[in-house]
Amino acid sequence: MRRLLILTALLFASLAAVAATGHDRDLDSRGIFQVIAKAPAKSRDQKNPYEGQTNAVAAGEKLFRQHCAECHGEDALGRGRAANLRASGVQNATPGELAWFLRNGNLVHGMPPWAGIPEQRRWQIIAYVKSLH
Ligand code: HEC
Repeated sequence: MRRLLILTALLFASLAAVAATGHDRDLDSRGIFQVIAKAPAKSRDQKNPYEGQTNAVAAGEKLFRQHCAECHGEDALGRGRAANLRASGVQNATPGELAWFLRNGNLVHGMPPWAGIPEQRRWQIIAYVKSLH
């Protein structure tokens, strides 16, 4: 009985936590999805070492097809809950914010973390995503 009470309390606490975080697709004051805008300032200001390099964009496109397209679509326009990566809420984010989001993901909402692939590849993917602007 006591265990049941504890479980019920935990359930309500987690429901309240979900309600308090609001909708993930809400935009912050800079027009960026809240989930991405949560990146700490240190990450936000990081520059993409491959910025503006066309071969990095091409490498990123290959990686995107390999790792991301199954959920976000070959065209990156999104499928179901997987976001449209051409949306302004993504494109307005800095490369550093995207790198932070990619590393951490948002697993409770179905976005896996990508900390397991080399940092260089994450930046190439970001160069590609940014090129979709
Ligand atoms: C297993 C499916 C899946 C894979 C694979 C995946 N994503 Fe996602 N991604 C999602 C889902 C679902 C969301 C929405 C999460 C949310 O609601 O916050 C998301 C959200 C995002 C967002 C934030 C936009 C937003 O509105 O939440 C970015 C950026 C993103 N993904 C990039 C990528 C990239 C780049 C890759 C490849 C390295 C990738 N994703 C692989 C499912 C996936």
